[in-house]
This record gives sequence, structure tokens and C-alpha cells, in this order.
Amino acid sequence: MCGIVAYVGPRDAQPILLDALGRLEYRGYDSAGLAILNGKGVEVRKKSGRIEELAKACRAKPVEGKSGISHTRWATHGAPTDTNAHPHLDASGKLALVHNGVIENYLELKQHLTKAGHKFSSDTDTEILAHLVGESFEHSKEKGEKCLIDAVRKALQKVQGTLGIAVLHADLPGLVVGARRGSPLVIGVGNGENFLASDTQALAPYTDRVVILQDQEIVALYADHFDVASPLGQKAVHVEKIENGVASSDKGSHPHFMLKEIFEQPETVRNAFRGRLDLEESSTKLGGLNLSLDQLREYERIFVIGCGTALHAGMVGKYLIETLAKIPVDTQHASEFRYSDSPVHPKTLFFAVSQSGETADTLGALREAKRRGFRCLGICNNVSSTIARESDGGVYMHAGPEIGVAATKSFTSQVVIFTLLAILLGRLHSLSAADSRRLIEALQQLPDHLHALLKRSDEVRKIAAKFASARSMLFLGRLANFPIALEGALKMKEVTYVHAEGYPAAELKHGVIALVDKDTPTVLVATHDGVYDKNLSNLQEVKARGGPILAVAHEGDQKIGGLADAVFSVPKTHELIQPILNVIPLQLFSYHTAVALNRDVDKPRNLAKSVTVE
Ligand code: M6R
Repeated sequence: MCGIVAYVGPRDAQPILLDALGRLEYRGYDSAGLAILNGKGVEVRKKSGRIEELAKACRAKPVEGKSGISHTRWATHGAPTDTNAHPHLDASGKLALVHNGVIENYLELKQHLTKAGHKFSSDTDTEILAHLVGESFEHSKEKGEKCLIDAVRKALQKVQGTLGIAVLHADLPGLVVGARRGSPLVIGVGNGENFLASDTQALAPYTDRVVILQDQEIVALYADHFDVASPLGQKAVHVEKIENGVASSDKGSHPHFMLKEIFEQPETVRNAFRGRLDLEESSTKLGGLNLSLDQLREYERIFVIGCGTALHAGMVGKYLIETLAKIPVDTQHASEFRYSDSPVHPKTLFFAVSQSGETADTLGALREAKRRGFRCLGICNNVSSTIARESDGGVYMHAGPEIGVAATKSFTSQVVIFTLLAILLGRLHSLSAADSRRLIEALQQLPDHLHALLKRSDEVRKIAAKFASARSMLFLGRLANFPIALEGALKMKEVTYVHAEGYPAAELKHGVIALVDKDTPTVLVATHDGVYDKNLSNLQEVKARGGPILAVAHEGDQKIGGLADAVFSVPKTHELIQPILNVIPLQLFSYHTAVALNRDVDKPRNLAKSVTVE
């Protein structure tokens, strides 16, 4: 995680760095800092807390200078304190460095440097790297610009782990050196000024011309040019023009991004299927898969990798594909897949699901799948992301920027995409045109159903107010609603800090039921389907033990209405589309509970929107 921005040019660096850092806050927000060459040396400001805290410190005592580096942090090594915030200085105090990633052998390096007399003021792995680069630079004869680049290269040879870094030195004004290994870094190409950042979004107001650095590359950034070198030597680069979609920082009439994004779902869901329905063939069109129908028909298995919410969407996808296309689907946490030895059937098609397209675990798993020779497609929202670039094709979500740390609209878009995929695969196998048409019609009705459902937000708010004092909750569902229960529990945990667990409903009696008491609400997803009666039995089991029941049920369900302590009513749709509606009250429930508990809804503690370290 963590975000990096650097600037070299004729303008004051401080306002540019602070502004661009603000657009990277999704990568971490526990502390931030900057270092600027002020004509006399390196001047550093760093503060724990949000970027606004750093901005306040900079407003109180501005740093003047035309080149600088900056960082927003998500702590890996060392608590989020002022001291541990980046940039870090080397032993001479003249070299400053910011770092995104993790240095795995930092303890070993620290011991070695300590023996050589180095003193450290922070608990971070990054400070070790600053000292390593500094030591190498100090040992160089000329201490010129080339020496700094060489010092970075030599230091990186000694470290293991992932990194994106930016470095400057007091004696070399007008130069920032950047390097990438595993963590993304892009050069923003300006007129008489240049930038470096963790993603293109940070630079959107400044330039639409970028160079995406590749792994192992080092860049020397000056105001009027830049040089990129790979391990093979100097490299010609390709400047790309990007669409300058400055992420909207406008919450509209909503108090939080999370609520705004929940309410965007009628539109984002429509965007996910727009232009992808093939009414003539009663099928769907997913051109981005880069596979002909014959090629697609050849795959005998599917494997979905992702993390958190994205994996939950994949789990709904498994149910859809297995039901409609009868193709076995495996789902696995990306972090587990990448290090596991499990055999995978040779005719398997992989899908890496990621809203951000930058999640390190998912990216690592994608690379591992490709290394093993599998075709791996992406389901991403961020079109210029690393996963989107490195996959062999895929489907974009077109959900627009998701700013709230809790994923909401991206989940429903991902499930819609899996529905389109399941229909497509189903039609290549045995799904009838009539059955497919019913699903397509249900998809087309989805935005209207979502509109109707969102009007019930205030009902959910009242239920949330009643149960907000609970310290633990259970979420239960079966089949495609099991991942909905998992997703409900994940949302509850991350935005309210209330302990919550998601289970297949039948698992209740295999241990979980011991948690049931009058203070532990159970949220049961129990819309009418093939397992409705089974769910009712689970409801009775919880009730018999005095546990409050909150049920997601179809509008007008009298049976559940008579038994549950509270009902989240949802419109009825096709059984396979129903999970998309069922998740909405759970998103709203966690949101309203978080507000009732006065939590920081859009930036919950300890989290970051995009998890770019493994
Ligand atoms: O960007 P990604 O979809 O790859 O992110 C994966 C998870 O980190 C993410 O879904 C996380 O679980 C969310 N904060 C959940 O709301």
C-alpha cells in the first residue's frame, strides 16, 4: 500500500505534492509526509493521521522548493507515528526516500548497518533502505547524479521484497530517482516539469501523458526530461495518453461516499450489462475476453481468484456458472493460491477479480497462474490498473471510481459480470434460450428493483439504530446467499468494528450456535428459493435460544414477518439474480450501524482502499 508522489519543475512543489497525495489517500491514510529541497538542504514535514494533518503542518510552516517527494502511509513496519511516517533520511541527513512496499530482509540489513555504526530513529524497514542508498552514494567517488542512480541500483540488489521508491539528495537539486519492483510507479510527463506517482489518478489535473514503469526499472527524473533504465541498460519509453478521469470528490447530497456509492447501484449495475446483452441469441457478448466461442467452449473448468469482497463476488459467480453452464468452478483467496501446490486441471480458465486492479495478492496469483501456463482474464474496475494490463483479456466493470473503503457498488457490478459470463457459457452448453431470456429480463429489471429497494434505506436505519449496541453478529445464508452472508459480515466488521461472522446457515449447529444469545443478532438471508424451508428451521433454532433474528425476506413474507425481530424486505426477482438485491440491505445495515456508532465510515481504522502489499 502507501502512495508516492514526486515533482521536479519550475513550480512550488509543496502544493502540488499535497494535492496529488490527496488523490492517493485510498492507498493508506495513517500518516503522511514530504521532503523538499529548499536551496539549503532537505526539509521534511511529516505527521501521523490524515493528509490534512500534514497539510495543516505545511500551512503553518510552508516548505519552499521546486523538487520534492511525498508519501501517504499504511503502516507495515512500525506504528503510525510522526517518526515512522515517510520520508526517511540517510545517515548524512542529505538523502530522503519514500517507499511503497515491504523489505523482507530488513532485520538482517539493519543488523549489518548497525554494526557499521548507523543509527536509526524509526521502526520502519524504509529507513534501512534510505541508509543503504545513502551509504552507497557516500562511497561513490564523484557523488554526481549518476552516482545516486547507481547507489539506488546497488541498494536494491541487497533488498528482498516489493517496492516502489522515490529518492532525492540535497546536493543534486532538480533530480528525483524512482525505482519499481512489484509496486506500481508511473511517470507523469509535463511541459518543463515531470512527476512520479503510484498511479495515474494522482496526476490527473497535471498531465494526461504518462509512462508506466515496468518492474526492475529505474528512472532519473528532471524538469525537462527523464531517463529510464532497465537492468539491460538505457531504455526507450512509450508515452501513453490517458483519459483524465479525475475521481469525483463530490459526495453529492450524501454524507458519505459509501452511501453515495450504495445509491449509485441502479446505474452501475446497468453499466455492467449495457451493450453486453445479445437479445437475438438469448445470450451475452463479452468481447474483451479475447476468446472465440469455440475456444471458450473448450474450457472444462474455471478458477476464480480474488480477495475480500471481490472473492465473495466470485463465490456467487461459482454458483451461477455451475448452475447455468454446469462447468465446475473453484474459488480461492488469491493469497492462498499463489503459494499453494494444488493441482489445477489443464483446461482451466482463470479469472482474477479486483475493483482496484492493484491488489498485490491478486496480482501475485494472476502472475502465478500465467507462469503455470493458464490463460487468466481480469474483472476490474480500474482500466489502467496493473491487473487489467497484465491479464489476457477480461471484462471492465464501468462502475466509476469507488472511493469509500468498503466495497459496495463494485460487488454488485462483479456479480452482474459473472451473471453475463454464466449466461454466455450456459448458452455454449445446455442453457435453453427460454431460460436464458428469463435471466436477461431479470437483469434488465434490476435497476428498477434497486431503485425501489434503496427507498427503504430509512427502514434499515431504524433497524440499525435498534441493534447498534450489539458487539457481535452472525450472518447466515445458503447456496448463492452464503457469499452474501459473508459479504454482509465483512461490511459490518470493516465499517463498524463490530465482530461479525458469515456462515452457511446449516453450519449453525456445528458449533456456531454456541454464540447465540439475546445480545447476538443473527442476520439470516431467507428469500424464497429451494432452501427456504431449511432456512426457516435455522431461524427457529436461533429463536429457541433467545437470539434476535433479522431476516432478509421477500416483501410480504408473512411467515418470516411473524417470526423475525426485524425484516429487511426485498423485491422478488429471478432466483439467480436475487443475491444482488439481497446484499443491498446488508450494505445499508452496516452503513447505518457505523453512522449510529459514529465511525469513520469512508476511512475505517487500519484499512486502505487498495491493498498493494501482500
Ligand atoms: O481492489 P480489490 O477488489 O482487489 O480489493 C479486494 C479487497 O481488498 C476489498 O474487496 C476489501 O475486502 C474491501 N475493503 C471490502 O469492502
